Amino acid sequence: MNSNEVKAYSNGKKSGVKVFVAGSYEALSKKAATILAGAIANKPEFILGLATGTSPLGLYDELAELNAQGRVDFSKVTSYNLDEYYPIAPENDQSYRYFMNKNLFSKINIDIEKTHVLSGLTKDPEGECKAYDAEIEAAGGIDLQVLGIGNNGHIGFNEPGKDFIWGTHMVELTESTIEANSRLFNSADEVPRAALSMGIGNIMCAKQIVLVANGPKKAQAVKEALEGEITPYCQASILQLHPNVTFVLDEDAASALTEYKEI
Ligand code: F6R
Repeated sequence: MNSNEVKAYSNGKKSGVKVFVAGSYEALSKKAATILAGAIANKPEFILGLATGTSPLGLYDELAELNAQGRVDFSKVTSYNLDEYYPIAPENDQSYRYFMNKNLFSKINIDIEKTHVLSGLTKDPEGECKAYDAEIEAAGGIDLQVLGIGNNGHIGFNEPGKDFIWGTHMVELTESTIEANSRLFNSADEVPRAALSMGIGNIMCAKQIVLVANGPKKAQAVKEALEGEITPYCQASILQLHPNVTFVLDEDAASALTEYKEI
């Protein structure tokens, strides 16, 4: 595939799931940014759900570029991030608040007061989670949620297990996630052992979802999410039931798909 190409894929079944495969990470990021910019243009007082991690970095750069060109306006947008480590201070350069300020909020015309990230310092995690859910509901719900996907199929910090958890909650991180995230810390010992995360209900209630994934390490999780049975052992598999979810992948992340073919 040409590096700036993006192709639509389908499994031939009627569902709310759309899949695009891009010839490069840049093309993937541009495609995702175009979807977001179009949605925000239709509703300036947009409620945007955001993710951290390396997958959406290109998308955030593209959004900053579109914003600089006056092609998307964040001045009336309110954002809610999926998750935050616990405990962690917002000034810590590994916190998700720090990540968002650095990689997106400082580069676009969003009002920082309208950006929300769960507090990694709260003394009352349960109260913090309840208040977050209530605030999102009072805002009218999330219009579009950006997601990445973990190598183990997690979305947010909803880890594989026997249940889907509905609302925002505290999570003990799995060894595999601590290990995967340790690349960003000096060592695995420094990775916080817990996090606060939106639940599967928060994600599924978003009116639209855009999931970005790139690289061969995501291939198996993407396959299980799109083609596997719907099970909490692959939390992202529940997205098959969402009425408006778009997976934007590169060829590596799409490489294990067998039911989805180019259309
Ligand atoms: C981050 C988040 C996580 C990541 C996932 C993939 O807010 O919710 O679920 O999306 O761990 O991370 P990357 O993109 O770093 O591979």
